[in-house]
Amino acid sequence: MDRLRIEGGHALRGAVAIAGAKNAALPQIAASLLSPHSLTLQNLPEVADVANMLALMAQHGATITRDAGSATIDAAAASPADTGYDTVRRMRATVLVLAPLLARFGQARVSLPGGCAIGARPVDMHVAALTALGADIVIEGGFIHARASGGLRGNRLVLPSPSVGATETAMMAATAARGETEILNAAREPEVVDLAACLAAMGARIEGAGTHRILISGGTVWRAATHRLIPDRIEAGTYAIAAAITGGQIELSGARLEHMAAVVQALEAAGVRVWPGDRGLIVAGGGPLRATDITTEPYPGFPTDLQAQFMALMTQAEGAAMIRETIFESRFMHVPELSRLGANIRLQGTTAVVRGATRLKGAPVMATDLRASVCLVLAGLAAEGETVLNRLYHLDRGYEQLDVKLRRCGARIERIGP
Ligand code: UD1
Repeated sequence: MDRLRIEGGHALRGAVAIAGAKNAALPQIAASLLSPHSLTLQNLPEVADVANMLALMAQHGATITRDAGSATIDAAAASPADTGYDTVRRMRATVLVLAPLLARFGQARVSLPGGCAIGARPVDMHVAALTALGADIVIEGGFIHARASGGLRGNRLVLPSPSVGATETAMMAATAARGETEILNAAREPEVVDLAACLAAMGARIEGAGTHRILISGGTVWRAATHRLIPDRIEAGTYAIAAAITGGQIELSGARLEHMAAVVQALEAAGVRVWPGDRGLIVAGGGPLRATDITTEPYPGFPTDLQAQFMALMTQAEGAAMIRETIFESRFMHVPELSRLGANIRLQGTTAVVRGATRLKGAPVMATDLRASVCLVLAGLAAEGETVLNRLYHLDRGYEQLDVKLRRCGARIERIGP
């Protein structure tokens, strides 16, 4: 299995082209199953999660045509085959095929995701949303069996909390239901807005995406569509922290400031400079870093997917920073690994207190999940000496050519074989 070897202590300078958003790509690939016409997605990131989701479409009988940076998915001949545990276990987002299959074929069987490294991550809100739209759902033998023999019916749904995935499930199902659907307490993430734009290009009528109230008129007449994915705000935030933690300067080509307000605010509070450039955002470190508290929240709050990276940055800041995680339980798996590099972090329930600045020293470290892995890469870039990161498959799930992009900015990082 490949590993990453990092020699820390070099300030990064240069530009990074921000890829399309993985978390926008996954639901939109699943949405292709709704329609008998083709969907072309542009600006697709070359990451393992996207490849796996496309492979899942092929398993369901869709034809995939790849081009540089794009894929056309033609689900005309698709069928509601089972989505088994092996697939779902590898990537929880595969549960997003449940709604499109049910909406189009009146039935679907998708394995339950089970636990994962960052908490229980149940799917009860997905199930409740589909039930409210008229589906009969039975959970048996580790599978979610969903049926809607007479078709789905529009309804008013109130989500108990603004889950991204449950909002996306409800939106996709509602496009094919009879009548109107209102989703209240909907997630407002840019990826939800981008799914709405993609569904609209496919023929759906959706209003209010990006607010807490989304309205969908069902009975969509589908048509072939092309949609370009938004840039990945989490990838952009990660490279922003790479610039800050090494005291360098990176231009994030294509990044959108309007998607990153909470992150930019936290970086500025920590003493990092951020300003708009010709092609995106420019981020510069170099001055003293100040300890800055953050709390992860649904969008537009600080994203949980950047919590681990921000924690790595705080090891280099003067003072004590409180990092509170409110979205996922057990999302502090990176803490013991950061400590092995010399970080001073104390965990108290859902809060981590990081005391800095500490001099990090390179060591072999183990990745536990996607964002934890990249946080260790960031810490390795700031550490003295050599850090070797094992279990790279987590990183490959969500970061396109991370080592190549970092090397172009002057990082000493290489991928090495087993
Ligand atoms: C998506 C993102 C993920 C990000 C997360 C929060 C994708 C593919 N993944 O995940 O990277 O970290 O949003 O921004 O877009 N929950 C329930 N029941 C449910 C659904 C969720 O209890 O039916 C809980 C989860 O366990 C979690 C919280 O709600 O504690 C938020 O989850 P959700 O917003 O649904 O995240 P995902 O869509 O899984």
